[in-house]
Amino acid sequence: MRRAKISIIGAGNVGATTAHWCAAAELGDIVLLDIPATENMPKGKGLDLMQSGPIMGFDSNIVGTTSYDDTRNSDVVVITAGIPRKPGMSRDDLLGTNAKIMTAVCNEVKSSSPDAVVIVVSNPLDAMVQRAQQVTGFPPRRVVGQAGVLDTARYRTFLAMELGVSVEDVSALLMGGHGDTMVPLPSCTSVGGIPVTQLIKPERLKEIIDRTAKGGAEIVSLLKTGSAYYAPAAATAQMVEAVVRDKKRLIPCAAYCDKEYGVGGYYVGVPVVLGSGGVERIVELELGAQEKAAFQKSVDAVKELVKAMAGLV
Ligand code: NAI
Ligand code: 2OP
Repeated sequence: MRRAKISIIGAGNVGATTAHWCAAAELGDIVLLDIPATENMPKGKGLDLMQSGPIMGFDSNIVGTTSYDDTRNSDVVVITAGIPRKPGMSRDDLLGTNAKIMTAVCNEVKSSSPDAVVIVVSNPLDAMVQRAQQVTGFPPRRVVGQAGVLDTARYRTFLAMELGVSVEDVSALLMGGHGDTMVPLPSCTSVGGIPVTQLIKPERLKEIIDRTAKGGAEIVSLLKTGSAYYAPAAATAQMVEAVVRDKKRLIPCAAYCDKEYGVGGYYVGVPVVLGSGGVERIVELELGAQEKAAFQKSVDAVKELVKAMAGLV
């Protein structure tokens, strides 16, 4: 059977860890690419990871490279290239630098893997995924951003910690942009089938939601030298799996919404069905008045970011 080809652009913390999770789950053959200035770093990481195969029991071929030739005709391209934030920086502070990097990367991806599903991870996520679609010109359903899976995982983790239950029993959904305005939906959160509002008092739930929205900054303030990567990479690998195994996962992703939710042509976090074609469907929920207002605020923040990006590329 032909193995899927997965290229990961940016072999730093998130890129290399995504390669790790993808290899461990034997999702396909992996190409890990970084800029020539990194010398042989991606080659070293690729070889090291491949040598864990006999121990971990996977047969993926893993190549580290600085040449897009090695990524030719990938089924999935994950883009993690860019700078991460340091303490005191917001994701939006990365806009100018990362928009230029995204433009350069996507010009390469466009010609080397014209049929790929592109999963964008670089921040500020909602603007970067919009840029990736603009530059590649790929159909919007084939360009999707990772944020909601991570944010939802943080929310589920905090809820499980609060209740002393397995994370597996916590089911939740977040919408909106990947930033402080993200919108957790208590109406779509349950624990073992029980609505969360029956288990946690409103004021405590609000604290957990606040911690979730600031979850990335919490890790940055602890690490000091960069941002989170284990959970972001696991979230990205889950999306890769949904595509290469055509799982049709219903998960929150940054997807191009035009009429959907009345967004009007921007990428924003919404529940989607993710499969081999990329975003196969956007699921439209009936939001309550408060949730609708919070989502609109988040969409407005994304629009501002995309407008600011236009002056920088
Ligand atoms: P990192 O600094 O460890 O790795 C970034 C890598 O990108 C570096 O190895 C760098 O050499 C490479 N790079 C830079 N320009 C490039 C280019 N033109 N072509 C190819 N590679 C290039 O950073 P880390 O921690 O891996 O984060 C990467 C990005 O992902 C950041 O923008 C970060 O904010 C974002 N991020 C997004 C998350 C999300 O949920 N959407 C979660 C975590 C990080
Ligand atoms: C995070 O949420 C930095 O966006 C990244 O951890």
